[in-house]
Amino acid sequence: MTAMLRVGVLASGSGTNLAALIAAQQDGRLGAEIAAVICNVPGARALQRAREAGIPAILVDHKAHPSRETFEAEIDRHLQAHGVGLVVLAGFMRILSPWFVSRWQGRIVNVHPALLPSFPGLHAARQALQAGVRITGCTVHLVDEGTDTGPILAQAAVPVLPGDDEASLHARVQKEEHRLLPWVVRLFAEGRIRVEEGRPILDLPEAAWAQASLRNPEPGEP
Ligand code: GAR
Repeated sequence: MTAMLRVGVLASGSGTNLAALIAAQQDGRLGAEIAAVICNVPGARALQRAREAGIPAILVDHKAHPSRETFEAEIDRHLQAHGVGLVVLAGFMRILSPWFVSRWQGRIVNVHPALLPSFPGLHAARQALQAGVRITGCTVHLVDEGTDTGPILAQAAVPVLPGDDEASLHARVQKEEHRLLPWVVRLFAEGRIRVEEGRPILDLPEAAWAQASLRNPEPGEP
């Protein structure tokens, strides 16, 4: 039997995506083990969630580092020490350097609260409202040197409703993130994602694919 994929989660904030990963691990849907959670913000809820789940919770405070190089080198050391094979950025709000990205090439994923390439960067839900789109969503993608530019692995669509404000729209998008991110981690764990010439290839039946991307509302659901 091959060893289970070990996942290192990088987070900066409330860690609801981390909570979704933990829940998926606990009920066997993740197919992987969360080996460590690394957070750059002291006191972040993500650290507490990791501790509560018995997962090593490591603070690497960027403010305590003289440079991005030393900050990232410390993160890298922790990931190596925990035998991590896949890095998941779950609300990690620091830009990673080309050095870090190339070290983990093809083995870092990020979750973003918009249908990339629309609305990269900060405040994606606000950007979607300002643009007046009727459909937005979330994206899980491989990380490259750009900001939210790497090859797209999976997306899920979310309608923008007439009464939405930034908070209500982001909350609805996050519900989909919490479904999509563990699903992608599982694909990694099962070896169903490979990258050829920069393009990800997912080994997946078409029906499973469509179901992962599109919500199928119940009759009567708004
Ligand atoms: C998530 O919605 C994630 O998509 C977003 O931060 C939130 C973190 O929430 N990330 C970005 O905007 C990155 N560009 P969480 O801490 O509750 O998981």
